[in-house]
Amino acid sequence: MSVWAVIAAAGSGERLGLDRPKAFANLRDRPLLAESLERLEGSDWIDSIVVAAPPGWEEPVILLAEELGCGKVAEAVTGGTTRAASVTAAVAVVPQDATVALVHDAARPVLPEEVIERVLTALNEGWDGAIPVLPLSDTVKRVESDRVVETVAREGLAVAQTPQAFVAPVLRAALSDDEATDCSALVEARGGRIKAVPGDPRLLKVTEPADLEAVERVLGDPAPSDA
Ligand code: CTP
Ligand code: MG
Repeated sequence: MSVWAVIAAAGSGERLGLDRPKAFANLRDRPLLAESLERLEGSDWIDSIVVAAPPGWEEPVILLAEELGCGKVAEAVTGGTTRAASVTAAVAVVPQDATVALVHDAARPVLPEEVIERVLTALNEGWDGAIPVLPLSDTVKRVESDRVVETVAREGLAVAQTPQAFVAPVLRAALSDDEATDCSALVEARGGRIKAVPGDPRLLKVTEPADLEAVERVLGDPAPSDA
C-alpha cells in the first residue's frame, strides 16, 4: 500500500487579509504550511507528499520543504482557482499505482498522527473514503438575509475536517473543477461510501486572523531552542 498526501495550500487567504497567501502566514515564526508539512513528513503512514501551491509560490514551497528536511515532498504543483481545482492538479502528479490519497488543508496546521491513523484504518475496512468529523455544539439556524427562517435539528449533523483519505482511483474519478469545499462531497456525489471517524478539536481551521492566535494556543509554548 502506498499512501500519498496531498496538501491543499493554494488559497490566497483573502479573509486572513495578509500581504501573502495563507500558507505563508506567520505561525510561531514559521510559515503556516511548515506545521502540516512536518507532521506529514514525520508520519509513519505517509510515503510521499504533493503540495498544491499558490501560483508563483511553488519555489518557496520546495525551499521550505528542503529547509525542514521533508524528503517525502515529491513536487509542488501550481494550484487552481478553486480548492477542487488545486486538489485535481496535485492528484494529477500522484503515480497511477498509488493506493491511497490523503488530502489535507494547509489551513489546519495541527494535524495529530491519531487522525491520520483513524482515516487510513477505515480504508482498510473497505470504505471508499474516510473523513474526521466533530459533533455540533451550537444550535444551528437557517438564515435568509437577516431573518431566521428555521432551527435545524442538530441530530445527525456533524462538521467535517481534513485529512480526508480516499482509495486513490475513487478520488481521481470523482475530482472535477467544482465549488465543493471538501473532496468527500465529490466522492459522495458519485455514490462513494465514506466513513465518518472521530475528528479532533486541535484540527482548527485558520480562516480569520484570530484563528492564528487560537492555533498558537493549541500548540502551547515552543520547545526551547538549542541556541
Ligand atoms: N485552497 C486551495 N486552492 C484554492 C482555494 C483553497 O488549495 N484555490 C486550500 C487553501 O489553501 C486551504 C484550504 O483549501 O488550505 C481551505 O480553503 P480556505 O480556508 O477557504 O483558504 P483560502 O481560500 O486561502 O482562504 P479565503 O477563502 O479566505 O481566501
Ligand atoms: Mg477559500
